[in-house]
Amino acid sequence: MTVDLETVRLFVHVLAATVWVGGQITLAALVPALRGAGGAATRAAANAFQKVAWPAFAVLLLTGVWNVAAEGDQGSAYRNTLVLKLVLVVVSGVSAFVHARASSRSAMAVFGALTGLSAIATLFVGIVLAG
Ligand code: HEM
Repeated sequence: MTVDLETVRLFVHVLAATVWVGGQITLAALVPALRGAGGAATRAAANAFQKVAWPAFAVLLLTGVWNVAAEGDQGSAYRNTLVLKLVLVVVSGVSAFVHARASSRSAMAVFGALTGLSAIATLFVGIVLAG
């Protein structure tokens, strides 16, 4: 099978999605064990994750725009699905930003859940778009 620019474009987009979405799920699974090792371990792990998560988010935005340009307009259903996806991307990014700066446990939990759920929903809508 041939490897072309489209292959590279989608590969980089999906690779970045695995870091943004998969990374959040993995970090959430590690938090109970990190908390057992002391509060500083949780914060250190979260800060380390941010160093790969935000560059991955930037790559998603850049390859996302490339996707839109390469795929072109495929009609109203495609446009509506893309708009839904972009709303989810904004929710995922903004809630991650607020989560990382939250001072109360409840705000951290609410915005952490919101960024995780919206990231998973974005992934699903991405698959629908590519389908
Ligand atoms: C949290 C951020 C994002 C995630 C998790 C994500 C995830 C995905 C996934 C998994 C696919 C399917 C790839 C495939 O099946 O080949 C996809 C496709 C797509 N994404 Fe994203 N994406 C994100 C952000 C964006 C952004 C910001 C844009 C636009 C600016 C975008 C535009 C697209 C388009 C147009 C497609 C369809 C590509 C095609 O038809 O080949 N994505 N995305």
